[in-house]
Amino acid sequence: MTDLNQILEIREFGEEGAELLSSMHNTVFKNLPEQSWSENEFRDIFSINGTKSYVISRYGEPVGFILLRAIAKEVEIITFCMLPKWCNNGYATYLLEQIIKKLQLQSIKRLFLEVRENNDAATRLYNKCSFKVVGRRKGYYNNHPGSKIDALVMQRQLIV
Ligand SMILES: CC(C)(COP(=O)(O)OP(=O)(O)OC[C@H]1O[C@@H](n2cnc3c(N)ncnc32)[C@H](O)[C@@H]1OP(=O)(O)O)[C@@H](O)C(=O)NCCC(=O)NCCS
Repeated sequence: MTDLNQILEIREFGEEGAELLSSMHNTVFKNLPEQSWSENEFRDIFSINGTKSYVISRYGEPVGFILLRAIAKEVEIITFCMLPKWCNNGYATYLLEQIIKKLQLQSIKRLFLEVRENNDAATRLYNKCSFKVVGRRKGYYNNHPGSKIDALVMQRQLIV
């Protein structure tokens, strides 16, 4: 079995990563109900205190990222994506597990997010990483006329 530690690398990016993040975000979300964000929108997101991203690279090539915002002792996952050609290799699980370890060392108490109810890959990932459903936002995803999909609010307790 491949040792992911040997081939993957995680690097923190702030506003300087806006172009890279926007390019990956557009590739991933262009055909999905979630909106994709421009480089300028990423710059705006980074202008809010507590926002950080972690890019995961495979042999030096960026394959995905997670965008986080800390509010006191809680952290929200703002977005999380893996380029389609690298999906289903365990890379998102690897990144999320590394982030959880990092946040636990910082004494962060909770990690939470909103996910489209019918997003099987993402809900499977979060269930696997011990997130629990703690709420529901009715019709949260409504970018496409006539279609309204609920968001699940999921939370992972980091410190008990
Ligand atoms: C969600 C996402 C980040 C998962 O990335 P990934 O690298 O493929 O995830 P992993 O390979 O670590 O797999 C995680 C789990 O999801 C499952 N999974 C991956 N792709 C799947 C798919 N298309 N359908 C169903 N399950 C899937 C895997 O089987 C694995 O579960 P298992 O170990 O129990 O088998 C990726 O699919 C993605 O970027 N999706 C589009 C953007 C998105 O929806 N982001 C989440 C926003 S909240």
